[in-house]
Amino acid sequence: MLWFHPVFQALATLVGLYVLWEGIKRSLALHAKMRLRFQWRRHVFWGKVACCIWFFGMLGGAGLARFFWSYSGLTEKHFYGALLMLPFLLIGYVTGHILDTRKKKRIVLPLFHGLNNLILMGCAGWQLWTGYDVIMLFLL
Ligand code: HEM
Ligand code: HEM
Repeated sequence: MLWFHPVFQALATLVGLYVLWEGIKRSLALHAKMRLRFQWRRHVFWGKVACCIWFFGMLGGAGLARFFWSYSGLTEKHFYGALLMLPFLLIGYVTGHILDTRKKKRIVLPLFHGLNNLILMGCAGWQLWTGYDVIMLFLL
């Protein structure tokens, strides 16, 4: 049971990398006027998939830890990393949804969304790193 969370979160992080790659292309096209193709629909779809897996995976990881270890926060760095990641996750999803559903020429909101999600990816990288330590310490 304890393996569900690490496997799904690691997969979501891979998806997030793809979404970031598409986002960087959009950013270069929008701000540096480079001629690059942005897969709008794909970015939105896979962005939502990554955010949802991270969010529900976080609840699942916390629930499983509490159920099997009867304690929350045992993983320390990994636990606090998750708390830090949560606001960026929500902001990234909501700003992305606004950009997608209320289309118009914008500069500031896409930039804000992009920077927020760059930090979000940094948090996911940190979770991957600290999650690996959790596996070595508590699962194996
Ligand atoms: C892993 C999560 C995500 C990452 C890393 C990410 C990253 C980015 C980046 C870097 C940009 C370019 C911003 C700029 O031009 O400065 C962008 C644009 C965009 N993102 Fe995301 N994003 C994510 C999730 C989402 C989600 C969940 C949605 C929709 C619900 C979304 C919708 C959009 C849209 C519509 C644009 C184009 C905005 C425009 O140019 O008007 N993104 N994203
Ligand atoms: C990216 C790869 C990740 C790996 C390998 C990983 C690994 C783990 C492992 C092995 C546990 C122990 C419980 C269990 O196995 O279910 C755990 C707990 C947890 N994880 Fe992750 N995780 C990852 C990503 C994430 C992300 C992205 C979040 C937040 C969005 C997160 C939030 C949590 C939370 C809140 C706990 C409970 C910690 C505690 O109560 O001390 N994890 N993780």
